[in-house]
Amino acid sequence: MMQKADLHIELMTEHTVSAVAAIAAACFSTPWSEGAYQRELTNPQAITFVALQKDTPVGFLNCGFLLDELTINALAVLPDYRRLGVASALLQALFEWMQGICSVCYLEVRESNLPARTLYESFGFQQNGYRARYYEDPPEPAILMIRSLEP
Ligand SMILES: CC(C)(COP(=O)(O)OP(=O)(O)OC[C@H]1O[C@@H](n2cnc3c(N)ncnc32)[C@H](O)[C@@H]1OP(=O)(O)O)[C@@H](O)C(=O)NCCC(=O)NCCS
Repeated sequence: MMQKADLHIELMTEHTVSAVAAIAAACFSTPWSEGAYQRELTNPQAITFVALQKDTPVGFLNCGFLLDELTINALAVLPDYRRLGVASALLQALFEWMQGICSVCYLEVRESNLPARTLYESFGFQQNGYRARYYEDPPEPAILMIRSLEP
């Protein structure tokens, strides 16, 4: 059983970028390549957190930001480590990091992705839009969500 004390969150580095790409490949139908995550390491407008369980990367959260607007691009946890609070710990770390830097957070999520929609709603995100033909593989509408980052 995973203990909370065994979990820690850190910024992605050269050492964890390939694990992040492997987690994305295990969790998404159209994952970014390892090269794309490698470029995020030097992108001043991006931030990627990694969740490690006893030094093993088990989840990550990637975002972009412009001025005071933050956009979550990807949040994923390996199937064997889900429902243990890993994604919640990643979101918590992001919101703490972004306090005083960004004032609003946006994201898109597949309409059928109830685990993610439930998670985001529990963190105070609200639906603010709908895009009928947004995703491919498989085609699916997107729910657009927004959350204030103001204290
Ligand atoms: C969505 C995802 C990131 C959640 O990760 P996780 O580490 O399991 O999430 P947490 O354990 O922090 O869950 C926190 C809360 O979210 C909700 N939640 C998470 N998974 C859920 C599920 N399968 N069904 C219903 N609610 C769920 C619950 O409210 C949960 O709290 P609880 O366990 O006390 O009931 C994970 O399922 C995943 O990687 N999915 C595939 C990739 C993906 O869809 N990413 C999101 C779009 S970018």
